[in-house]
Amino acid sequence: MESMFNYRPALAGKIAVITGATSGIGLATAVLLAHHGARIIAVGRDANRCRNAEEDIRASCPEARISFLLADFASQKQVRRLAAEIRSLDLPCLDILVNNAGVYSQKKVLTEDGIEKTFAVNHLAPFILTHELLPLLVRSSNGRVITVSSDSHYHLTLNPRVLDNPAFYLGILAYGQSKLANILFTAEFNRRNSKSFVHAYAVDPGLVKTDIALKDQPLISRLIWKIRSSAGVDPLVPARTILYLATDPSIQHSPENYWHDQCPKKASHQANDPALSRELWDTSSRLCGFPGREQES
Ligand SMILES: NC(=O)c1ccc[n+]([C@@H]2O[C@H](COP(=O)([O-])OP(=O)(O)OC[C@H]3O[C@@H](n4cnc5c(N)ncnc54)[C@H](OP(=O)(O)O)[C@@H]3O)[C@@H](O)[C@H]2O)c1
Repeated sequence: MESMFNYRPALAGKIAVITGATSGIGLATAVLLAHHGARIIAVGRDANRCRNAEEDIRASCPEARISFLLADFASQKQVRRLAAEIRSLDLPCLDILVNNAGVYSQKKVLTEDGIEKTFAVNHLAPFILTHELLPLLVRSSNGRVITVSSDSHYHLTLNPRVLDNPAFYLGILAYGQSKLANILFTAEFNRRNSKSFVHAYAVDPGLVKTDIALKDQPLISRLIWKIRSSAGVDPLVPARTILYLATDPSIQHSPENYWHDQCPKKASHQANDPALSRELWDTSSRLCGFPGREQES
């Protein structure tokens, strides 16, 4: 693990927002970026877990410049309030936004906004947060938006018009579609912001040993994930790819949207469908109350 901290891109003076920084990949990313000198605004949904995560990060990196903010991504109001809190910090700019927070839900749950929770947390929350923080990102000399997707997007398609409240719900399908949405969002973001210095990347972290499908899930789902994830890599492995995407100058205007282990990876045919990414963008804008052509530079 020592070698991961030895990879030394220049992060001193850079400012990063990392969502879902209380556990798993987000926590590992916060540790890694802190070791490289970034100022980190970490986001969690639970005050105790934020405190524990901050202690863990400081134990690993006593000089860490980190503070936690709270927001439940199942609530659009809370995502907007979070963005307002970040803007009120009077930052000169935002260099790195890591959209990592994610959920798996075996059961269909509707949020307070009346939207299916997996879609709301995994896609609409990063969609809103990125939009709300774009004015800060464009002030960076090379702003980067990194969204943690997954290979579970393969062999799936989605219908943007019914994603907010699908008549048929299967946890694994909703999760895979939300991860497909992450790549479609990344592609459309890059198309709309092609003239700016902000670039987006979607990451496949691989199979990672985390607790994602152990939280609030039925026993059978927990057992399956316990066995499956035991073959996964340490969260620091995808954190290193996130660090690479956040910093490497050679990929500033890369036409590649999907990445794994610091290399581009071929996403599914659907993930590369520009008409689908446009339709998803327009539907997401409507569901979040944005005018149709937001985030275009
Ligand atoms: N593990 C894998 O094999 C794998 C594979 C492919 C993709 N991914 C993706 O990797 C990302 C991170 O997942 P992980 O595996 O590291 O799982 P994790 O340890 O459960 O981390 C998920 C993070 O998201 C936060 N979160 C969940 N629901 C939230 C909500 N409603 N509002 C705000 N924050 C919320 C969690 O907060 P709490 O600590 O409070 O729960 C936690 O900090 C996810 O986007 C996931 O889809 C993971």
